[in-house]
Amino acid sequence: EDGGRITGIKSALRVIPNFPKPGIMFQDITTLLLDPKAFKDTVDLFVERYTNGNISVVAGIEARGFIFGPSIALAIGAKFVPLRKPKKLPGEVISEKYILEYGSDCLEMHVGAVKTGDRAIIVDDLIATGGTLCAAMNLLERAGAKVVECACVIEVPELKVLSS
Ligand code: PRP
Repeated sequence: EDGGRITGIKSALRVIPNFPKPGIMFQDITTLLLDPKAFKDTVDLFVERYTNGNISVVAGIEARGFIFGPSIALAIGAKFVPLRKPKKLPGEVISEKYILEYGSDCLEMHVGAVKTGDRAIIVDDLIATGGTLCAAMNLLERAGAKVVECACVIEVPELKVLSS
């Protein structure tokens, strides 16, 4: 069904051990971006999945959700909404805190970016604990959107590519 695309995508990714600290296996998507076919295949697989899904919003999580999300949004005719780290958005925001292994962080979204009845997907490069995506889902749902699916390129620790 995917014509070998997932195999190509997997081989374009790389893992850097002990970054940013000892014991962490960093899943690096920048090598995927250097391979135009694998990069396009990644976007295309999501576009094929969500075309005709009546999706009105693609929400991208800072920072690497901004690399994949806008191309998907343009291709399926949805608006793109950036979910940003604190104090980056200039307008009125709603915020959602979440817990990390090493403390807490927060995602923010502009008030008015989504409205009741919007159907959203959330895009990021990677899901690990899922804490970041949970916060993103809460933000969108608080604003009245329905989160149809979360779309990530990589799932760790099992490194399943293109899980949703
Ligand atoms: C990474 C990744 C996801 C998140 C996943 O972002 O891009 O957003 O962690 O982890 P979780 O499923 O355990 O929540 P990071 O925290 O490195 O932020 P950055 O993209 O701003 O560097």
